[in-house]
Amino acid sequence: MRSLIDIHDFSVEEIDKLIETANDIIANPSKYAEKCKGKKLATLFYEPSTRTRLSFEAAMMELGGNVIGFSEASSSSAAKGESVADTAKVMSAYADIIAMRHPQEGAPYVASRNASVPVINAGDGGHNHPTQTLTDLLTISREKGRLDNLTVGFCGDLKYGRTVHSLIAALARYKNVKIVLISPSELTIPSYVRYEVLNKNGMEYVETTDLEGAMPSLDVLYMTRIQRERFEEEADYERLKDSYILTEDKLKRAKSDLAILHPLPRVNEISVKVDSDPRACYFKQVHNGKYIRMALILQLLLEADGVIAPEDRNYMLVNKLSCGNKRCITQTEQELDQLFKVTDPEAGICRCVYCEAKVFTK
Ligand code: NCD
Repeated sequence: MRSLIDIHDFSVEEIDKLIETANDIIANPSKYAEKCKGKKLATLFYEPSTRTRLSFEAAMMELGGNVIGFSEASSSSAAKGESVADTAKVMSAYADIIAMRHPQEGAPYVASRNASVPVINAGDGGHNHPTQTLTDLLTISREKGRLDNLTVGFCGDLKYGRTVHSLIAALARYKNVKIVLISPSELTIPSYVRYEVLNKNGMEYVETTDLEGAMPSLDVLYMTRIQRERFEEEADYERLKDSYILTEDKLKRAKSDLAILHPLPRVNEISVKVDSDPRACYFKQVHNGKYIRMALILQLLLEADGVIAPEDRNYMLVNKLSCGNKRCITQTEQELDQLFKVTDPEAGICRCVYCEAKVFTK
């Protein structure tokens, strides 16, 4: 059963096809109005969400399907101690497809290994958010007319911003994409993004704290919120929360055809005055999110008849190792095998298959 857990679960060609379908849905919505008649989507949201959950639900409704689910862990049996694996098995009896958001990194992957219907990762902790990435790719392709030959700046919380991690992984597969990482030094990208994505793909990237200095070179500026809920110390959040605020003044040095994206919700990192700038694309991005999720649901349900075998993540079972990431699903899920993939045999580096945290074997 094919699921979407990591953006690399879909090839570039498959992503291009989803973008094509989304564009066709935008142009001819009535053609798709009954495509999922009789099908049910379960939205299992263990963490707050406005856009992602409701865009999944709106997407399924616009395909003629139905929706069941919950929007907070406290209203599910997780509050009674039910594991993610059991919940996934149970929901497979009620729904044809599952969208899951969970605070523990790797939880949707655990669900996909236990469900008999496709599972979509709707955000796992500070790790990944592949459907936001599909939204971002559709937006960039509609605004810029291409996904290659771009300089893309990411600004804000690059450490905990899961949308950033998934989008960089996606952009790594397009030609001549340069990345500019703009963040406070405490909030730089996690090591797996640096080593497994940027370095391994030979991507050109720079790291800076200076948004205004980077501005003139950018084709796309991806602003992000400082992720308050992932901080261990509130004082650290307080110190860093106003690190970047995009204003009209700061945009004076930007290209005239810059595309400004933001996954939303916005706190204060983009001045409301910027909203009327023609370069602001973040509300168009919200619309695109619904259409690309329609394309994704349609595609996964079409494939769910067993066309595609479960993908092999090339993992190994290492009993003596355990993942040290406090936000990993291995910390809370009952009797979960500790699975690792070897990413750098010479240096003896393994990564947890659920959250990609680094573990040394030497
Ligand atoms: C993002 C998320 O949940 O990671 N929101 C979204 O899904 N559009 C970004 C965020 O919360 O900052």
